[in-house]
Amino acid sequence: MRPLLFCLFWVAGLVSPQKIPRLKLIPKDALGSTFPEAESPKAVYYDADTTQVLIGGRGVLWVLDFTDSEITRRNITLNAEDKAVKDCKRKNPSREVNCDNLIRVIEKWDKKALVCGTNAGVPKCWFLINTTTWEKNKEGLNITLSGENIIPKSLSENVVTIAVEGNLYSALSGNKSSIQRSYGNKKGIKTEDSWLDNAEFVGAAVLTERNPNLDEIFFFYNEVNQTAGLDEEPYRAQLARVCKVDMGGKPILVDSWSTFLKARLVCGHPHEPLRFHHLRDAFVFTKDGKEKAILYGVFSSTWGASAVCSYSMGRISSLFKTSNFKGATSSIPNPRPGTCVSPDSYHVLPKHTLTFIKDHPELDTVIYPDEEHPLYILRNNDTYTHVVVDRVRDASNESHDVLFLGTEKGKIHKVLRSKDQTVIIAEISPFKEQESISSMILDAARGYLYVSTKAEVTRLPLSDCDQYSENCWRCVLARDPYCGWEVDARRCSAVSQIKNSTASRLLQNLDASNTTYVCDAAEEKLVQEALKKVSVDPTSYIYLPCPLRSHHAIYTWVKDDKTYPCSMDEQSCTLRFGESTPMDQGVFRCTAKEEGYQEEITAFKVTLNGGRVSEISLVVVATGIVFLTITILLL
Ligand SMILES: *[C@@H]1O[C@H](CO)[C@@H](O)[C@H](O)[C@H]1NC(C)=O
Ligand SMILES: *[C@@H]1O[C@H](CO)[C@@H](O)[C@H](O)[C@H]1NC(C)=O
Ligand SMILES: *[C@@H]1O[C@H](CO)[C@@H](O)[C@H](O)[C@H]1NC(C)=O
Ligand SMILES: *[C@@H]1O[C@H](CO)[C@@H](O)[C@H](O)[C@H]1NC(C)=O
Ligand SMILES: *[C@@H]1O[C@H](CO)[C@@H](O)[C@H](O)[C@H]1NC(C)=O
Ligand SMILES: *[C@@H]1O[C@H](CO)[C@@H](O)[C@H](O)[C@H]1NC(C)=O
Ligand SMILES: *[C@@H]1O[C@H](CO)[C@@H](O)[C@H](O)[C@H]1NC(C)=O
Ligand SMILES: *[C@@H]1O[C@H](CO)[C@@H](O)[C@H](O)[C@H]1NC(C)=O
Ligand SMILES: *[C@@H]1O[C@H](CO)[C@@H](O)[C@H](O)[C@H]1NC(C)=O
Repeated sequence: MRPLLFCLFWVAGLVSPQKIPRLKLIPKDALGSTFPEAESPKAVYYDADTTQVLIGGRGVLWVLDFTDSEITRRNITLNAEDKAVKDCKRKNPSREVNCDNLIRVIEKWDKKALVCGTNAGVPKCWFLINTTTWEKNKEGLNITLSGENIIPKSLSENVVTIAVEGNLYSALSGNKSSIQRSYGNKKGIKTEDSWLDNAEFVGAAVLTERNPNLDEIFFFYNEVNQTAGLDEEPYRAQLARVCKVDMGGKPILVDSWSTFLKARLVCGHPHEPLRFHHLRDAFVFTKDGKEKAILYGVFSSTWGASAVCSYSMGRISSLFKTSNFKGATSSIPNPRPGTCVSPDSYHVLPKHTLTFIKDHPELDTVIYPDEEHPLYILRNNDTYTHVVVDRVRDASNESHDVLFLGTEKGKIHKVLRSKDQTVIIAEISPFKEQESISSMILDAARGYLYVSTKAEVTRLPLSDCDQYSENCWRCVLARDPYCGWEVDARRCSAVSQIKNSTASRLLQNLDASNTTYVCDAAEEKLVQEALKKVSVDPTSYIYLPCPLRSHHAIYTWVKDDKTYPCSMDEQSCTLRFGESTPMDQGVFRCTAKEEGYQEEITAFKVTLNGGRVSEISLVVVATGIVFLTITILLL
C-alpha cells in the first residue's frame, strides 16, 4: 500500500515570494538576561576577543560572559563625579536635567575599554582595565578624558562612534550635529557647522582599500526638518564620508575635514511615488572587499510601513568620483574635491579645491537602491529598526546574504537574499516583553547574534536547524541556507561554514523555482501520522483544527474530493461545522501546499452516532500496514 501521506507533486504557478514570515519561532537555545528599568542598556559593546558583552546603564557597567549554557553577569559602578553632580543639582533645582552618569559609548582601546558617560552634564570617559578595575594614575586617581566631543550631554540625542586604527570618530546628533575625529593619535578635526543640518545619526562603517591612504569612513544619518508640516516628509536620509588620512586643509579648512562629501539616499524607485526617506539603521557588509561591499538600509515611512534597500558600495564610490555638486555653478576644480590623497598632500591642496568643498559638500546625484527598488516592503503593523547581515555558504558552497532585522515589537526577521528573490524565513520572538530592538551585534565567526531591548539582552544562534528537524521536507522547505537535511542521521543539521570542509553533502533547496524531488529518496522510511477518530451527536457541531506548519502554504480541507472552507487564524486553518457547513461524516483531510509540495497535515474520521461525544480513538498509521489503536477516554 502506497502511503498517501507525503504525496508530493509539482504545481505550476505557486511560486510567488511572499513578504510575510514563513514561520514564527521561539528560539530553542537562546540565553538571555534582564535589566531593571532605570539601569536599562544605553550602550552595548561586544568584544569578539573575549566574547564578553559590555553594557552601559545608569552609573553602572555590566559585563556579561556567555558560555555554551549560561551567562555570568558582573557589574562595576561608574558614578558621576561628585563635583559635577553638585553643580548639576545647583543649576537644575527642578531636576529636569539628569544628574546621573548615563553611559553612552563603549569602545575597545588597546587592551582596555573606553567608557564614556554623561557625568551629570559634563561628559567624561574612563578606561576599564579589566572587569573590576578603572585605570588610575600614580596618585591613585581615575584617569579620565573629557567627553565633550565624544558624546552629547543628554540622552535625547543619538551618538554614533567608530574606532579605526587608534582613533575614535564621533557623530553627534541634534541641532549642533557634527562628525569629528574625537580622540586618538591623529589630529582632531570636525565638520563645518553649515555641512550638517539637524542630523540624526544611525550608523557608521569603514571601507578599506589595498592602499590604506584611500580608506574611507562612512556615516549614515537623517536630516530632520523640524519645521515641516504634518503632511510633509520631515526626514531626508543621507550618507557622509571622509578619508581616513584627512588632516584638515590649510588655510581654509584648518580644523575641518578637507574631504567631507555627502549625498542623499532614497529607498524607492526614482519615478514612482512609493519611497522611503527615514533611515532607521544601516549596515555595510565589507568582509569580501570593497568592490563587493553592500550597504543595507532599513527605512520607515510616516504611514507605518518599512522597507529594506541595498546599495552597492562600488556604485556609491563611483558616484562620489563622477557626480556633479549641488548648487555649484563653477566647473569642478582639479584635484577633484573629496578625493583621498596621501597624508602629506593635505596641506598642499589648492585653495580652489578647498573653497569649493567648503561651499558645496553635497553631491547633486540622489542615490537610489540597487535595481532601483526596495528588496521588499513590510506591511504587518511592525517596523524595522535594526539590520545586520551575514554571508553564508549553502550546502553547495554558494554564498548568500542572510539579513537579521530587528523590529519595534522586539521580533527578529531572518531573511534570505538569493539571486533576485528575498524570503522571510522566520520571525523569531526571543523576548518576554514587546520592546523595540535597540541593538544588534553579529559574531559570524562563532555563529551568534546578540540582541537587546531596553529591558533584555539575548544571544541567539544564527543557525537553529533543530526547529526544522521533523522530516526532510520541513528542513528543505525552510530555505534556510544555514541548514540542510542529513540523510543518514535523519536530521536537519547546520551547514559547515569552514571553507575546506569535506562534510557530507546536505540536502537543501534554496531556489523555489527548482522544485525537484529533493527529499524523495531520503523519505523511504515512512512517517507516522495519526488518523483521529471522532464520534459525534449529529445535532452538535465540532471544530476540526489543522495546525499551520508554514505561513506561506495554502491549506485545504477535503472529504471525498469536496473541499470545505476553513477559518484561518495565526495557528490554525479550522474547519467549523455550523449553519453554512452542515455536520457530515467521513474522513476529512487537511493538506498544505507549498512550492509544489503537498503534505497531509491532519485527518479526522468523523462518525455521527446519535449519542454524545464519548471517545476519540487515535489510529496511528505506520509503514502503511501496521495499525495501532490507542483509546483515550474523555472524562
Ligand atoms: C552589582 O552587583 C552587586 C553584587 O553582585 C549587587 O549587589 C548590585 O545590586 C549590583 N548593582 C546593580 C546596579 O545591579
Ligand atoms: C573612580 O571612579 C569610580 C567610578 O565612578 C568611583 O567609584 C571611584 O570612587 C573613583 N576613584 C577615585 C579615586 O576617584
Ligand atoms: C584587575 O587589574 C588590577 C590592577 O592591575 C589587579 O589588581 C586585579 O587583580 C585585576 N583583576 C582581575 C579580576 O583580573
Ligand atoms: C537646539 O536645541 C536646544 C536644546 O534642545 C534648544 O534649546 C535650542 O533652541 C535649539 N536651537 C535651535 C536653533 O533650534
Ligand atoms: C522645512 O520645511 C519647511 C516647511 O515645508 C520648508 O519651508 C523648509 O524649507 C524646510 N527646510 C529645509 C531645510 O528643507
Ligand atoms: C497595530 O499594532 C497596534 C499596537 O501594537 C495595535 O494597537 C493596532 O490595533 C494594530 N493594528 C492592526 C491593524 O493590526
Ligand atoms: C567554496 O568556495 C570557496 C570560494 O568560492 C572556495 O575557496 C572553497 O574552496 C570552496 N569550498 C569547497 C569545499 O568547495
Ligand atoms: C581546514 O584547514 C585548516 C588549515 O589549513 C585546518 O587547520 C583545518 O583542520 C581544516 N579543516 C577541515 C575541516 O579540514
Ligand atoms: C535543481 O536542483 C537539483 C538538486 O538540487 C540540481 O541537481 C539541478 O541541476 C537543478 N536544476 C536547475 C534547472 O537548476
